[in-house]
Amino acid sequence: MRDTNILTLALRLAQRAGALIREQRRQLDISFKDGTELVTQADIAADKLITEGIRKCYPDHQILSEELNPDQTTEAADLWIIDPIDGTVNYAHRHPQCAVSIAYYRDGKPVVGVVHNPFLNETFHAIRNKGAFINDRPIRVSRTEEMQRALIATGFPYTKETLPLLMRRLSGVMAECADVRRLGSAALDICWVATGRLDGYYESVKPWDFAAARLIASEAGATTGHIFPLADGVNEDLEGSNLLIANPALFERLQQILQAAEAEPAAS
Ligand code: IPD
Ligand code: CA
Ligand code: CA
Repeated sequence: MRDTNILTLALRLAQRAGALIREQRRQLDISFKDGTELVTQADIAADKLITEGIRKCYPDHQILSEELNPDQTTEAADLWIIDPIDGTVNYAHRHPQCAVSIAYYRDGKPVVGVVHNPFLNETFHAIRNKGAFINDRPIRVSRTEEMQRALIATGFPYTKETLPLLMRRLSGVMAECADVRRLGSAALDICWVATGRLDGYYESVKPWDFAAARLIASEAGATTGHIFPLADGVNEDLEGSNLLIANPALFERLQQILQAAEAEPAAS
C-alpha cells in the first residue's frame, strides 16, 4: 500500500464529496444533534460516500468519521479520520468557508491529509515529509514575527460552558495581536495558517476537525502543539484539546498569552 495511492483515493473522495455537498445545498434538510449542533442530510450523505469509498479499496482499515463512526477507537494500524463537512454552520447559512477533510494515519501517526473546499475550489494536501500544497502548488507559513502584526483565528464550541475561559483567552490574544478571525471551519483555519493567510490558530476540537489540516500545516512549516504540555502517554497527533498551531516565530508567545488566560481574575 503506497502513500501516493492513499493520497489519490483521498483526493478523489474529497472531490466527489465536495461535488455532492455543493449539489445538496440547493435543498437542505437541517436538524440539530443533541439539541444544539446543526447537521444536514449532506453531512451524512458525504460521510457515507467517503466511508464506502474507503471500504471498497481498503476493507480492513478502520474509519473514524464524525457522522457515521464517531466512537471508533483511534488504536488502529490503519486509520482514516473523516469530517464530511467541516463548517456545517457556514454550509447551512450558505457561506463559502466549508471543507471536506480526510486524513489517513498509520500506527497513530498522520501520513496523508486532504482538505477540500468545493465552494472556493481550493484543495490542500500533504504527505508526511513531502511538503504541503494548495491546488498542487507548494505552500509555506507566513513570516510574520511581531505579534502586533499577526492575524489569529480561533473558534468556539457549540456548548457554552467554557465561555468565560474562552473570552479571557480571546481578550489576551486580542490585546497583543493585530486582529482575530472566527471563520467557522477549523480545518480551513489550520490550512490558512499553512498557506500564510493567517499567522496562528488555537481551539479545542475533535480529531476529525484537525487531523488532515494539522499535517498540512506542519508540512508547510508551522509549529504544531498545545497550549499546555500533554500528560505522558497522550498521542499528540490525536489530541484536540487546547490545540495551538502557528508560524514558528509566534508559537511560543501565543502559548504564553493563552496560558496566562487560565487563571480566574481575583475577586475584588
Ligand atoms: C466545527 C468547525 C468550527 C469549530 C467547531 C467545530 P463542524 O466543525 O470546525 O470552526 O469552531 O469547534 O465543531 O461541526 O462544522 O464539523
Ligand atoms: Ca468539524
Ligand atoms: Ca462536520
